[in-house]
This record gives sequence, structure tokens and C-alpha cells, in this order.
Amino acid sequence: MTQIADDHAYLCIEKLSKVYSTRDGEVRALNNVSFTQQRGEFISHVGPSGCGKSTLLMIAAGLIPPSSGEVRVGGRKVDRPRTDIGIVFQSPVLLDWRTALGNIMLQAESRKMNRREASARARELLATVGLSGFEDRFPHELSGGMRQRVSICRALIHNPDHLLMDEPFGALDALTRDQLVLDLQALVSERRMTALFITHSIAEAVFLSDRVIVMTPRPGSIDRIIDIKLPRPRTLAMRETPEFADYSREILELFLARGVLREHRSGAEKESGNERNSGFTRLRTTAR
Ligand SMILES: Nc1ncnc2c1ncn2[C@@H]1O[C@H](COP(=O)(O)OP(=O)(O)O)[C@@H](O)[C@H]1O
Ligand SMILES: [Mg+2]
Repeated sequence: MTQIADDHAYLCIEKLSKVYSTRDGEVRALNNVSFTQQRGEFISHVGPSGCGKSTLLMIAAGLIPPSSGEVRVGGRKVDRPRTDIGIVFQSPVLLDWRTALGNIMLQAESRKMNRREASARARELLATVGLSGFEDRFPHELSGGMRQRVSICRALIHNPDHLLMDEPFGALDALTRDQLVLDLQALVSERRMTALFITHSIAEAVFLSDRVIVMTPRPGSIDRIIDIKLPRPRTLAMRETPEFADYSREILELFLARGVLREHRSGAEKESGNERNSGFTRLRTTAR
């Protein structure tokens, strides 16, 4: 699906393709991806492993060039690494010999920010994600979820225009993920951040986003863009509502139709020859 060019958009991704040359030949990672993002909008990309999600994020960050197409931010073409972004990866990559606060301040130091202001802001960010009192702890004294919270604070210390996240909760257990999703929502809504979030969790994408972009298997292209019209702030209880289940099911059905997910048929369904429909019915009933 392509979108009509929107000159007022903050981010404009236009006809982006990426082909990697490898020893075994060419790998087409992305194919003709176009979408726009408004300021203050939270967009998630959800898709299977290898569909080019990380590639898309790296191109949007200006860290790697596309093979064709272009990225514009505020109307200007991106042709070098962007300095107006905060970026969070799956692994928090903190320096072992610096405290939580020290790791966040590293970003402030490299940007030559005022030390006192940056330190106050770092403490504020840590408080928003429930880490008041942990400022002076070293990474080995923190849990995985805490370390990832620190890395999110580090990405936000310079008040970036655009927050880019590549499966930031991928390595965490389910309960910690739930908490971090809530923390992220609080950070993003307080600061009216514009965010691109990559995940393969359907629930995370629906929970956090204004729009979810569902990607096809490789070469990744846009399968569908879904407006999530749930009220904000979103609560964990909302995940149990029929509206939430409807959005999740729409994405699930795309994944089933594209072979990203495959259900196993029960004996009775095989006999009736009606397994596909009943599979969807089952999803529908359990989702609600
Ligand atoms: N630097 C690279 N060189 C060659 N192939 C790459 C490189 N980076 C990614 N790829 C390939 O491009 C495809 C998309 O990768 P990636 O963007 O990491 O997908 P995702 O993040 O959705 O899992 C994969 O097949 C991957 O092996
Ligand atoms: Mg990836």
C-alpha cells in the first residue's frame, strides 16, 4: 500500500527499497515502502523476523543509505546520520563502569549539554520510569528491565524530536515488558514525542500506537496500515476489551493469510474440511 505524499508530514518515507549485497548474492530486504508520520504520532511496525524492520529504522536514522527512494524529515532529505533522534536497541549497551546516571550523562556530555540541567533532567526521566533512588547503581546492580529503562532515558536526555526504537523489550520477560510499555507510554505522552517503534508483538503495537504498519515477509513491504482509535492513556485492562481484540485479530489474520503464522488443525476440523474458517472462529472467541 502506498500513501499519497504529504508535504506537511514530519517524516516522509518514499518508495524505499534496500538490497544488500552478500557473498551469496543479493538480499532484497525492503521493497517500495512509503508512509508518512505526523509530529506527535506514535507508529509501530510489526512484522516477522527478517522482513527488514531494523533496516527500515537504520535508514530512517540516516545510519545506512537506501538502495532507492528517500527519507525526508521536516521536508529535508536525510543523507547522513541524524542528530535529532534518540535511539533504543534491543540490548541496552550500558558502560559497566558508569552508574545509571553516568550512562545517561554520557549522551549529555557528547552533546556538550549544560551539566547541571542535564543531570536534573536525567533524574526526572529516571523518576518517570520508576528508577528514583537507582541513580548511583552500576549496570550489574540493575535488572534487565531496569537497564533497558536507563537506555530509554539516555535516548531522551537531549529531548530528541524523534524517538526510534528497535524491539526495545524483546529480551525481557512478559511482566517486565508490560511495565516498560506503561513507562514508555508515560514518557512519550508527557513529552508529546514522535516515535517509531519496531516490534513483533502484536499486543505491544496495538497498545502503544496511533497507527500500526503491518509488514509482509521479506522483502518487507507495507501490508496494511491500521488506525488504532483506542482512547488514551491506555490501560492494561483495555487489552481485554473487544475493541482491542478486534485490532489484534486484524493483524493476526494478516499474519495467518501470509503464512507468517500457521495454525495446526485438530482431527475433527480436518475431517470436516473446514479447518481454516473454524481456526479463525476459534481465534475470535478466544480473543474476546
Ligand atoms: N548488513 C547486512 N548485510 C547483508 N544482509 C543483511 C544486512 N542486514 C540485514 N540483512 C538481511 O536483510 C534482511 C532484513 O534484515 P533486518 O532488517 O534485520 O530484518 P528484521 O529487523 O525485520 O528482522 C534479512 O534477510 C537480513 O539477513
Ligand atoms: Mg530487527
